Amino acid sequence: MEFDEVVRRRRMVRAYDPDRPVPAEIRDKLINHALRAPSAGFSQGWGFLVLEQPADLELYWSVTAAGEEPDGWLDRMRTAPLIIVPMSNKSVYLDRYAQADKGWTDRDESHWPVPYWDIDTGFAALLIHLTAVDQGLASCFIGLPADRVPHFKVAFGVPDAFTPIGALTVGYGAPDKRSPSLRRGHRPVDEVVHHGRWTG
Ligand SMILES: Cc1cc2nc3c(=O)[nH]c(=O)nc-3n(C[C@H](O)[C@H](O)[C@H](O)COP(=O)(O)O)c2cc1C
Repeated sequence: MEFDEVVRRRRMVRAYDPDRPVPAEIRDKLINHALRAPSAGFSQGWGFLVLEQPADLELYWSVTAAGEEPDGWLDRMRTAPLIIVPMSNKSVYLDRYAQADKGWTDRDESHWPVPYWDIDTGFAALLIHLTAVDQGLASCFIGLPADRVPHFKVAFGVPDAFTPIGALTVGYGAPDKRSPSLRRGHRPVDEVVHHGRWTG
């Protein structure tokens, strides 16, 4: 698929064909592309939890959506045959930038204008999302409710240093319900792009 078309077709899809698993070679491509994402200082302070066994998928939803009434959203999302949870590791960046070639001799977080660890892991997540589209699949990036993160980490044995930045559901798309958020429409270019000086 042409890159322009991948970008144009990209959208979050929240319903999948439950009878069509993601082929192993496509699953591996999603991960391999994620690992090509840029990272500050080439730190690569990320980790990816890949879930495709029915019991693991069930566990994911039971720990992240516990307490919620199953609504249409959850029922449709549960049809995803693959979930990838990208996680960032801040300590890898603090260590990397304290190395001689970077020069911050301490691990003081006030050096950081923004959390590069989450940015880099987000870049990797976007590569997974776009690769899925390119391969004829669909995906959706979702957040984990903050109060469920500790339960998620215990359930899957995630080390303390890692923080899930969200999760990607992946599969072959099925008829979906349009997100009400889309009514907002894309913001006009003039409102968000400022050439030369910030105007407006
Ligand atoms: C950081 C982030 C968190 C998101 N969290 C959720 C979520 O929890 N549930 C959901 O259904 N969609 C979630 N989305 C998808 C957005 O709702 C979606 O990207 C937006 O409505 C625009 O739609 P589109 O991506 O299909 O163009 C999230 C997207 C991002 C980037």
